[in-house]
Amino acid sequence: MAYFWHLTLFLTVLLNTPHVSVSVGCYTRIFSFGDSLTDTGNYLRIFGNVSRSTAARLPYGESYFHHPTGRWSDGRLLLDFIAEDIGLPFVPPYLGGNSTGYFRHGANFAVGGATALNHSIFHEMGVPVETRAGFLAIQVQWFKELLTVLCLESDCREVMDNAFFFVGEMGINDYNTFNAAAVPFAEIKDYVPGVINAIASAVRDLIELGAKTIAVAGVIPLGCTPSYLTILQTEKVEEYNLTTGCLNWINEFSQYHDQLLFDELDRIGDTYPDVTIIYADYYGPYMNMIQSPRQHGLKETIVSCCGGGGPYNFALSPSCGAEGSSLCKELPSQYVSWDGLHLTDAAHKIIAQLVHSKLSCKLNHKCYEIYQGGQPSKDIYS
Ligand SMILES: *[C@@H]1O[C@H](CO)[C@@H](O)[C@H](O)[C@H]1NC(C)=O
Ligand SMILES: *[C@@H]1O[C@H](CO)[C@@H](O)[C@H](O)[C@H]1NC(C)=O
Ligand SMILES: *[C@@H]1O[C@H](CO)[C@@H](O)[C@H](O)[C@H]1NC(C)=O
Ligand SMILES: *[C@@H]1O[C@H](CO)[C@@H](O)[C@H](O)[C@H]1NC(C)=O
Repeated sequence: MAYFWHLTLFLTVLLNTPHVSVSVGCYTRIFSFGDSLTDTGNYLRIFGNVSRSTAARLPYGESYFHHPTGRWSDGRLLLDFIAEDIGLPFVPPYLGGNSTGYFRHGANFAVGGATALNHSIFHEMGVPVETRAGFLAIQVQWFKELLTVLCLESDCREVMDNAFFFVGEMGINDYNTFNAAAVPFAEIKDYVPGVINAIASAVRDLIELGAKTIAVAGVIPLGCTPSYLTILQTEKVEEYNLTTGCLNWINEFSQYHDQLLFDELDRIGDTYPDVTIIYADYYGPYMNMIQSPRQHGLKETIVSCCGGGGPYNFALSPSCGAEGSSLCKELPSQYVSWDGLHLTDAAHKIIAQLVHSKLSCKLNHKCYEIYQGGQPSKDIYS
């Protein structure tokens, strides 16, 4: 029952008035933020086509684009499916162009490797962080700069009123950064409220700039990802879920993040009743694929399609795309995980379909109507 609740609330519109169907009109632009789960090519522009930019080379992109685009998947991301649903082109990476024509339908500010937290926090702790990937507040800064330019040509209010904002998953890189510096997870947990605060602060900034519709994504169940399963591999069988093979305690960590995020979004919704805030849940649909793969045409749940071998076909080196890595013999569309952390085109598509049951396209795919699926629950995991 609890799980069903979770799924049906995949996209929970956080409003004060329950059981109301809210028409939010036609979206003319999408502005998106996030990390490698949402990046459509910014990392590639920042770092260049160097060996560490594995997403710049095949097999990344092979299933859908048939060439690498800088997306960390074999194909489309959740953001791409959302754009398709709305009836807009794929959201162009902010660093990929300069003209207002290029940004006609919006811009994607997400950068692979970006953290939610301001890097000053890592610097103070002496924890190494990839500074070039930046953090969420920088992406919001970029948006402000672009908005200034867009407002010269269009009515600013019109731009904001008719834009769909997507704050993709944020936080995994923060936790990865701490983890890479050998900070124990018991301590990393103490930073979750700070991460949520950084996400909430970005959401508030966007609302103050006039955003009217914002979807904010939670984290995936990290304990089911081949990367975490490899890095945190243990002989203690009791740490594993016997049915799914996932690491229970890491999934509880993910749920903790998602619960705090949900609560915070709920509070923001109370502060701004005229703004539609949507909690976009990755966790529930991801777990649904893990638990019932065949229902979705999937075969492999916790082994990645592309990677460096081992029980989960994941290694830090060689990573997917690097020399010595191997690609699954079956179709990537039978896998949840593409490269150990990022999802396949097929998995994103399944997640997007679950989104679609809550967000319906109207008027020849130009309008998005958001239906409230039920009473917002503060207690999504109980
Ligand atoms: C990056 O370089 C590789 C090797 O030269 C090439 O195959 C790939 O297409 C390039 N990627 C992009 C996005 O241009
Ligand atoms: C955008 O403009 C800057 C400054 O003129 C230039 O350096 C940069 O290459 C341009 N970027 C793209 C993607 O056109
Ligand atoms: C990051 O934190 C530093 C130190 O507190 C601050 O000076 C800087 O303005 C912050 N950057 C952003 C973009 O918020
Ligand atoms: C195993 O995972 C399933 C699906 O997430 C969950 O319902 C169940 O409670 C888990 N079992 C344990 C022992 O945590």
